Amino acid sequence: MPVPPEPRETQLPDCYVLTDARMAPVRLPHSGEYACGGVIVVDEQNIGFAGDAADLPAQYQDARTQSLKGRLVTPGLIDCHTHLVYGGSRAREFEMRQTGASYEEIMAAGGGIFSTVEATRKASKDELLTSALRRLDNLIREGLTTIEIKSGYGLNTDTELKMLRVARRLGEERQVRVRTTYLGAHACPKDMDADDYLTRICLPTMEQAAAEGLVDAVDGFCETIAFTPAQIERVFAAAAQLGLPVKLHAEQLSDQGGATLAAKYKALSADHLEYLSDAGIAAMADTGTVAVLLPAAFYALRETQLPPIQKLRDAGVPMALATDSNPGTSPMTSLLLTMNMGATLFGMTPRECLEGVTAHAAQAIGLDDCGQIRAGMRADLAVWDFSDPAEMSYRMGDAPLHMRIFGGERC
Ligand code: NIG
Ligand code: FE
Repeated sequence: MPVPPEPRETQLPDCYVLTDARMAPVRLPHSGEYACGGVIVVDEQNIGFAGDAADLPAQYQDARTQSLKGRLVTPGLIDCHTHLVYGGSRAREFEMRQTGASYEEIMAAGGGIFSTVEATRKASKDELLTSALRRLDNLIREGLTTIEIKSGYGLNTDTELKMLRVARRLGEERQVRVRTTYLGAHACPKDMDADDYLTRICLPTMEQAAAEGLVDAVDGFCETIAFTPAQIERVFAAAAQLGLPVKLHAEQLSDQGGATLAAKYKALSADHLEYLSDAGIAAMADTGTVAVLLPAAFYALRETQLPPIQKLRDAGVPMALATDSNPGTSPMTSLLLTMNMGATLFGMTPRECLEGVTAHAAQAIGLDDCGQIRAGMRADLAVWDFSDPAEMSYRMGDAPLHMRIFGGERC
């Protein structure tokens, strides 16, 4: 049932109690437990208590309260796979695809990722920042509090570092947490041999980016139009040397055994997975690698091969959902619409969709202090003019965010 909107209070004290909250049930990773209840204590940056009003600890009995009047409260949403920073647009290529050219054909003709590389190399830091902020603001309006952002449209040292710096800067410009991922192994520059590119540019740039503190994880694109498993293994081995966790664009267009390789390196996640094999599923289940599903890319490419959702479920592989926001395969800046697509296109339940953009998304980017409503977690919350969590996946183009709380601060 919708809860009517009303004017919001702007200032709240350092410690306050949100009462009459309808807390969304979000399964804690690696357990069958669901966190839910009716009272949430925000104690500075963190959640001090979440549960039944009757169990409110004595120390919070006198804290200021604010009634949410039965509104739904979820963890702040987490977009765990984006390419948010880039130059240019690929609207022209969209037009070409509408008249019959395939994604692979466009890339083979020097377009696709390469046209975005050209535009991103040309763009100034300020231009990249401005266009990424517009996309980020769309996500924030829907309750986002944490976002992963990849490089990968530079394919040279200067531009890869420029992208990562802009990504970090986004976290200073807005009240949002940014995790950066180095994706130098996104595509091989047109005039180079792939192994040579890895040796001379991609791996040294990774070292430099890591030395400057610009990287939280390392990703690659394992595909016939990108890098072979052997080449990706070189990237993963180098990341391991630097102590960086890995993730992989795997099995998006064909089965390359990428998920198995990712699991071998204890990857945080393997992403896309339309062509995932049974062996890949088993390997991911063994290592707890999260399956990051990207229904907007599936939709935009008019893919027909579905990721093996039921098999992932049966194997107990945690499933996350993300926008994959990028100019080519997913010009998308809505996590709520992503949830709807996860449900409608992939057959995920509304609860799975919610876990996919909260607890499991946090796991997919290596964070254990957000994505859940329970004591000790960061107070990153989204309050909705809804009371039923299924509304989030059910509606399309309707995002009635009542308020967003970031590190305890209402914003
Ligand atoms: O996640 N798969 C590779 N990378 C992006 C698409 C990049 C692009 O087309 O610009 C993705 O779909
Ligand atoms: Fe991607």
